Amino acid sequence: MYALEINNVSKSYGTFNALNDISFNVEKGDFVGLLGVNGAGKTSLISSIAGINSFNGTIKVMGHDVISDVVRAKYSLGVVPQELAFDPFLTVYQTLKFQSGLYGVTNNKDWIDEVVERVYLKDKINSNTRSL
Ligand SMILES: Nc1ncnc2c1ncn2[C@@H]1O[C@H](COP(=O)(O)OP(=O)(O)OP(=O)(O)O)[C@@H](O)[C@H]1O
Ligand SMILES: [Mg+2]
Repeated sequence: MYALEINNVSKSYGTFNALNDISFNVEKGDFVGLLGVNGAGKTSLISSIAGINSFNGTIKVMGHDVISDVVRAKYSLGVVPQELAFDPFLTVYQTLKFQSGLYGVTNNKDWIDEVVERVYLKDKINSNTRSL
């Protein structure tokens, strides 16, 4: 099983073809950069993987179809958006707990603590996100 499977993915905005029959796989444990000039379709593809865009073709995350098995696909997927996308009234801990809980990752305080420590932000865990 691949971590990510992109099969014959196309995306049109009206009559404009942004993605034209894209196929590739990503192995578990691989780090992959998606490079392209402005307007190449990077955001369109990532939005399709993340279930934000409609598209033609099939995409699987850890074997889960992002359309028919959306909750399990999202359970295995993290997306850091380009824009700020957190509630400015929550703390760092509340933000991580809320966002992971949206797709069923619960009771994960130990994991949140570990991740925050790994990125040297332990002293900010109870800070309001606006203060970062
Ligand atoms: N909502 C939309 N409606 C119409 N056209 C769109 C829409 N979103 C993207 N496009 C067009 O689709 C193409 C791919 O855009 P996309 O944003 O996916 O590219 P990108 O590689 O992420 O670009 P950038 O490097 O600027 O972030 C571009 O020609 C863009 O103008
Ligand atoms: Mg983009």
